[in-house]
Amino acid sequence: MLLLTLGTAAGGGVPQWNCACPGCTGARAHPDRRRSHDSLAVLGQDPSSWFLVNAGPDITDHLEAHPRLRPGAGEERTPVIRVLLTDAELDHTLGLLRLREARNVEIYATAPVRRALRERLALDTVLTPYTTLTWRNLPPPGQSPAVIAGIEVCAVPLSTKRPRYAADAPEDDSWVTAARLHDPGRGGTALYAPALAGWTAEFGKEAAAADCVFIDGTFWDDQEPRRLGISTRTATAMGHLPIDGPAGTAEHLAPLSARCLYTHLNNTNPLVDPLAPHHGVLAGRGLEVAQDGMVIEL
Ligand code: MLT
Ligand code: MN
Ligand code: ZN
Repeated sequence: MLLLTLGTAAGGGVPQWNCACPGCTGARAHPDRRRSHDSLAVLGQDPSSWFLVNAGPDITDHLEAHPRLRPGAGEERTPVIRVLLTDAELDHTLGLLRLREARNVEIYATAPVRRALRERLALDTVLTPYTTLTWRNLPPPGQSPAVIAGIEVCAVPLSTKRPRYAADAPEDDSWVTAARLHDPGRGGTALYAPALAGWTAEFGKEAAAADCVFIDGTFWDDQEPRRLGISTRTATAMGHLPIDGPAGTAEHLAPLSARCLYTHLNNTNPLVDPLAPHHGVLAGRGLEVAQDGMVIEL
């Protein structure tokens, strides 16, 4: 399979419209530092069939930017679009509204995520006059996987963190998941986890077995959101394990054989500056920072 990183920023993007922090200011001065909301396109064996993992507010700009994701000359308009969701956060789901020109939008998600989108965001009510929504279950590992574009997909449960608009909804460990993508033809496996609240044994097992891991790179260190004044909470309390520190993700990822790439970078993260010394720290541990528009073949 081919993985195409469409965007690599956390909610708000880099720069964020109402922010003048060093990361946002730097991205205004250097357009190559701009990052759009994180999303991935997955292309299976047949290059005409593909699907998305998460659909943020930039999604139709992403689709237009990549020739392989546009309808070919003489082709019908893209009739069906398939979207796998790792959670119900607005930065991963607002793009569903922008996909309404498709005849059919197929959404693969866990039960609590489907409920949030249908009952809280009223997506059926809003979108049914424009398109047909087809809701499909995303099973956990161990059950028979869903198959999209020839790729076997499942959702590794990660945390009970609910979006703010559904903060009072029932707890469930599949509110936030990692998408596991397995190509049965070529044998490659990728894990896509843009929000990781804690390093669980199950996630560790899945990461150790994967060839490629995309992981939460929201914050460099645990105090970053407090130090930069965007929250009174630590990164961990916000549901994002930091990269650095004794319990950080770098410590867990460094020993793995998988290619590991950080995504979902917040504009406060020093890594949004390509000249920051933090890049050298990661490179020394064999870890990478994803960029918008990377192509990875597995
Ligand atoms: C998150 O990644 O924690 C959320 O997307 C934050 C938010 O926008 O509420
Ligand atoms: Mn987010
Ligand atoms: Zn900023």
